Amino acid sequence: MKNEYELNLSVNAIFGCGKRNLLHEKLAQFERKMLICGNHFHKSTVFAELFGNRQDYTVHICQSQEPTLGMVQNALDTARNCKANAIVAIGGGSVMDLGKSVAALVNQDGDIRDYFYCRREFEQERTFFCALPTSAGTGAEVTPNAVLTDEQNNIKQSLRGSACGVDLAIVDPELTYDCPLHIIQQSGMDSLTQALEGAISNKANSVTFAWSMQAFRLVFDNLKTACLGDKAAKNYVAEGTMLGAMAFVHSGLGAVHGLAHPIGSLYHLPHGFVCGVLLPHVLKINRAFLNDVVCNYYGNSGSAERLIADIEKLAEAMHIPKNLNGYLKREDFDFILANCRSGSMKCNPVALSDDDIVKLLEELL
Ligand SMILES: [Fe+2]
Repeated sequence: MKNEYELNLSVNAIFGCGKRNLLHEKLAQFERKMLICGNHFHKSTVFAELFGNRQDYTVHICQSQEPTLGMVQNALDTARNCKANAIVAIGGGSVMDLGKSVAALVNQDGDIRDYFYCRREFEQERTFFCALPTSAGTGAEVTPNAVLTDEQNNIKQSLRGSACGVDLAIVDPELTYDCPLHIIQQSGMDSLTQALEGAISNKANSVTFAWSMQAFRLVFDNLKTACLGDKAAKNYVAEGTMLGAMAFVHSGLGAVHGLAHPIGSLYHLPHGFVCGVLLPHVLKINRAFLNDVVCNYYGNSGSAERLIADIEKLAEAMHIPKNLNGYLKREDFDFILANCRSGSMKCNPVALSDDDIVKLLEELL
């Protein structure tokens, strides 16, 4: 583990049931706010309670899908038209990433693609950005990047930099109570993957390892019960997700996330679903680096094999298949190889050659 590191905890994160009610007090100094949310939240009683009689918000309803550059441009037009000086996003990872992109780009000149393809630096400060997650998965409420897809050529990657940060995260687990079951299952597998990849990343340090391990414990021990509707378990999964993300902001992730982006964008598969399929396969490759996780979680009675088998059982219970049969095609291997060498892939404890990745993809056919 790295014994030299720097931690940057710039986000003001508030966690707890009912904490959504602090939103208006926390944003009182902003006169023109824009709320980004999905249609499902817009119709909810929580929306009516929080925003029903507010005149200081322009509401932008977005599609419930991972954001494309076109969706960001639409939301940017709304933000510029209403001259928003604070952006609030309430939703899953996709909605929060959309909001984060708008907050980062609204004050910049030039085309969105200039920033997406790193042809231009962010020159202006972001607009104040506040995120409230309604699912427990990506941890986007505390991460300084937004995953976007260029729909013209299926390139999915992160918009990054200090402009893409979050000023205020209000993680109120009660907002996750209405989350549909398949989203709890899939985003829970994303959260679990993030905790594990963060724990064994080659950029992990003692602080991030402690956070990643506690995140792993909270999600691994509670995800099944959360799927049965247990509110206390949902609270723990929401907390574990936030904690795991705070860790991976510093530690980075691994090969699952490196591969999940090109695979997800090619076949239009949900991120958590792809992570859940890939996780056991990648853990087998990383087996030699699981000792600290195993000792920490199981004590003396554990082994890498037991951990991998337990994760396979959980993935099965979450209705995640064992491979990508029916989706993955051999003719797409070159595209996946060309687009998987992200920062996440560089953090995988085992350096994977193109041949290693092809072997892994063959297992997934
Ligand atoms: Fe993820």
